[in-house]
Amino acid sequence: MPHSTITGIGHYVPKNIVTNQDLTEVMETSDEWIRERTGIQERRYIDRTKETTTTLALEASLRAIADAGIDKEDIDFIVFATLSPDYYFPGSGVLLQRELGIAKTEIAALDIRAQCSGFIYGLSVADQFIRAGTYQRILLVGAEVHSVGLDFSTRGRNVSVIFGDGAGAVILEATEDRNTSVLSTVMHSDGTYAEKLSYMYPGAHGGYFIEKYGIEGFDVDFDLENNKYGGVFWNQDMLDQGRVYPHMEGQAVFKMAVRKFPEVIMEALTKAGLSIEDLDMLIPHQANLRINQFVAHTMNLRDDQVYNNIMRYGNTTAASIPLALSEARDEGKVKKGDVVTLAAFGAGFTWAAAVLRWGF
Ligand code: ACO
Repeated sequence: MPHSTITGIGHYVPKNIVTNQDLTEVMETSDEWIRERTGIQERRYIDRTKETTTTLALEASLRAIADAGIDKEDIDFIVFATLSPDYYFPGSGVLLQRELGIAKTEIAALDIRAQCSGFIYGLSVADQFIRAGTYQRILLVGAEVHSVGLDFSTRGRNVSVIFGDGAGAVILEATEDRNTSVLSTVMHSDGTYAEKLSYMYPGAHGGYFIEKYGIEGFDVDFDLENNKYGGVFWNQDMLDQGRVYPHMEGQAVFKMAVRKFPEVIMEALTKAGLSIEDLDMLIPHQANLRINQFVAHTMNLRDDQVYNNIMRYGNTTAASIPLALSEARDEGKVKKGDVVTLAAFGAGFTWAAAVLRWGF
């Protein structure tokens, strides 16, 4: 049975650097508050009318393709993880296929909606397709543009200071060599917490779950009397009340994340037949430096066993793991033969991990 292995990796971030100090010009916040609570010093924002989630993904993908030394026409499946697609539909996978100039190959393109866990969910999906013998060379990308959809007033500061834009991509290929492959993937979710970290409006729910679960602060006047049909997906009241922004209950996320990270890391290592002593490098999702430090401490990991770059990019959701993995590889911190564990926790809640033996 074939296994899958990463043969190329690349990342791309927009050139525009936005420091914590820059944010103090538009909202009441401080460099000190942001650094202390999150570890973030700066993040990147796109040029709003010249770049998109897909164009960031394109740059990262081209780098991964070059790194793998393959021809883009040889890719036989695209898996695209994002929570910030360019269009509500169609998904970003087909847009990336078009930008790559390979639409004529008519390969399938799948979008993954698992937020911060999206890259690992995508890796698991891609791995299964390669193991099944269906595909031989898959482009897997995680890309996000948060900066265009955040509330930059003081009202939105608890969320807006955390997120940044970026992309990372890998080429996964079939191999017979079990020793340089994806050794295990595990995925979990618990929808009980769906709204704790969410972007609910616009959406197709008409306030149903908000009423059912008594979620406070998200009522909207749907004005049903004046709309015989429709009118609930988006409306003026959502805009007027500032409901059209991400919502995060930070402490609930923090508590669950520090519990689930160690669990899922151990589960993936055990599934791979390994233990924590075998781990060379942990690449955790870059949600918050304090979460990652807490996890490292809980698991008795040394600083050189955990790679973090949230200080420079903020939280880039589905892009954060391939972006960190790509930088770690470029810096020589992930080397051939290393046991690398990827782990994520995020909206849904979803969480996931993967263990790889780095092959090049
Ligand atoms: N600047 C200054 N003050 C702020 C800011 C800001 N950017 N944001 C919030 N505050 C204020 C609040 O208004 C509040 O003030 P008050 O006490 O006068 O009411 C105070 O700071 C504390 O606010 P909390 O929201 O309770 O802040 P908390 O200590 O929980 O820290 C944080 C917020 C950093 C988000 C924290 O909850 C956390 O780390 N949570 C984990 C979630 C996370 O990291 N999410 C990332 C995305 S999710 C993911 O990728 C998994």
